[in-house]
Amino acid sequence: MSDLTSSTHKLNSPIDPAEVPSHKHISNRKILKTTWRFMRPYSSRILLASIALILTAGLSLGLVQIIRVIVDSGFVAGSNTSLNVALLGFVAIAIFQAIGTFARFYWVSWLGERVTADIRKSVFTQLLRLHPGFFEANLSGEISSRITTDTTLIQTVIGSSVSIALRNFLMLIGGTIFLFITNPRLTSIVLLCIPLVVGPIIFFGKRVRKLSRDSQDEIANVGAYVGEAIQQIKTVQAFNHQRHDKQQFDRHVEAAFSVSRRRIYMRSVLITVVMTTIFSALAAMIWVGGQDVIDGRMSAGELTAFVAYAVIVAAAVGAISQVMSELQRAAGAMERLIELLESKSAITEPIGQEAALQEPVRGEINLENLLFCYPSRPDNPALNGLNLTVRPGERLALVGASGAGKSTLFDLILRFYDPQTGSVTLDNVDIKTLHPETLRRQMAIVSQQPALFTGTVLDNIRYSHPDASDEEVSLAAKNAYADEFITQLPQGFQSHLGEGGVRLSGGQRQRLAIARAILKNPRILLLDEATSALDAESEQKVQLALDHLMKGRTSIVIAHRLATIKNVDRIVLMKDGQIVAEGCHEDLLSSSSLYKKLAKLQFN
Ligand SMILES: Nc1ncnc2c1ncn2[C@@H]1O[C@H](COP(=O)(O)OP(=O)(O)O)[C@@H](O)[C@H]1O
Ligand SMILES: [Mg+2]
Repeated sequence: MSDLTSSTHKLNSPIDPAEVPSHKHISNRKILKTTWRFMRPYSSRILLASIALILTAGLSLGLVQIIRVIVDSGFVAGSNTSLNVALLGFVAIAIFQAIGTFARFYWVSWLGERVTADIRKSVFTQLLRLHPGFFEANLSGEISSRITTDTTLIQTVIGSSVSIALRNFLMLIGGTIFLFITNPRLTSIVLLCIPLVVGPIIFFGKRVRKLSRDSQDEIANVGAYVGEAIQQIKTVQAFNHQRHDKQQFDRHVEAAFSVSRRRIYMRSVLITVVMTTIFSALAAMIWVGGQDVIDGRMSAGELTAFVAYAVIVAAAVGAISQVMSELQRAAGAMERLIELLESKSAITEPIGQEAALQEPVRGEINLENLLFCYPSRPDNPALNGLNLTVRPGERLALVGASGAGKSTLFDLILRFYDPQTGSVTLDNVDIKTLHPETLRRQMAIVSQQPALFTGTVLDNIRYSHPDASDEEVSLAAKNAYADEFITQLPQGFQSHLGEGGVRLSGGQRQRLAIARAILKNPRILLLDEATSALDAESEQKVQLALDHLMKGRTSIVIAHRLATIKNVDRIVLMKDGQIVAEGCHEDLLSSSSLYKKLAKLQFN
């Protein structure tokens, strides 16, 4: 019962903000620098896209000049030849414009997709490198959302928004220059309005970025919530927890909506302010310009061109202000990704030369004075001054009540955590001076909850040794007494097991995990209650297989049933993170009252 409540704990309570990675402020410079780091490999493409961008912007501006000529000489002066020449120019510009637009669109979108793919890859690589403790403090759904939704935001920005911003920036500059050339006096009216437009963009932009970060965080929470509820769907339904979960989920969704609403509200205000300013300026300009045409100080073509440039400039400012908020959103997303990319693994590889480990190893493990507290329980040691030497080839059993620290000991031997004090050595080499890969290559573990992956039986056994032949896999399965149930599966070794192996029973999963360990053929074997989910008959068989497997290897077996450890060389009894007694079964029966109690409970 307590297991069930703890596994649904997160469903009951709003997600603890302390569990989400801290929002340390990351400067704009840093965000740009990191983004650039991902873009730099493609600088030749960026150049290509920029050329296309400048070309198309220039051509659009040039087009207006042609319209001016068409109006003045064609329509007003009534000259056929000028009209023809001007139209020819128009067509030529249109063709180049088409080519340029193609190049710009293709290369810019390409960049967006490419950079996003690279970011996803490096975030995932980084995740695989992080120490397991990191994932205790961070929700997995939250992390996956960063890889999916946050990167998508960045893709939109690099693959379109930035180019829209740049294009419009060029149009803004170019348009303003042409405005000056056409009519400086009128242009002053336009320029006066610029602070009125840029001011709100900067003012609201900051708020949008903050809200956008919050909004991504909320969406991530929603994702995390769904993931956990689905994984534990049987528990959810068995306890009729659906209504409660629905309410909780609704609250997260509504929170996400509320943040988004505030964001789009800001954006709407921004757009409204900008548009109103722009249109008022335009109206003022057309009025003043119209007077000039009436008084003959300006030609109709010039006014047409002028209004066209003014519209271009106004549209550019409008587009930039819209895109700015998208840029701000992407900055928020990048901030979240940088947090992940910069998280440091607590398990570090040795700096410089890795210590020399004679391979194949003899398999002597020495634990000296281990003191270890889980990061979330700094005052509560899970291992408390533990000393233990496991000789090469020795078969050692660890027994003790649940919570005594047995699994934790395996975690330290595999170096998923480093102890606060004390050391773990393998063949007298401190494991901290080894590359974690070198260390883990020597060992195979069958863990308490056998971990299977989406894929076939074959994939799952071969997990430990990807190059193994079908025959080797099948032999390993046979030795783990797994072949009999595998052959009864609809597609035998090719049967798909579903996510996490949901289509198998606990005992079947355990046997696959054992087959996986057998296939790896390591010097050191760590079995964490590897037979706990088996029925008496298969347990006996698997026990035989394990006894066979353990021969000649250093093996540490965590056993909850004393019957399964009759053939070991030594039994070690753990209590509260310490070793309280050791010896053979008979010795312990007479020397340890705790062991006697355990034995009595089990054999009665
Ligand atoms: N990831 C964790 N974070 C914090 N405490 C943990 C974690 N895993 C285990 N513990 C605690 O450490 C102690 C030892 O646990 P464990 O090694 O799993 O015990 P055993 O395998 O002997 O049953 C227990 O009190 C348990 O609650
Ligand atoms: Mg355990």
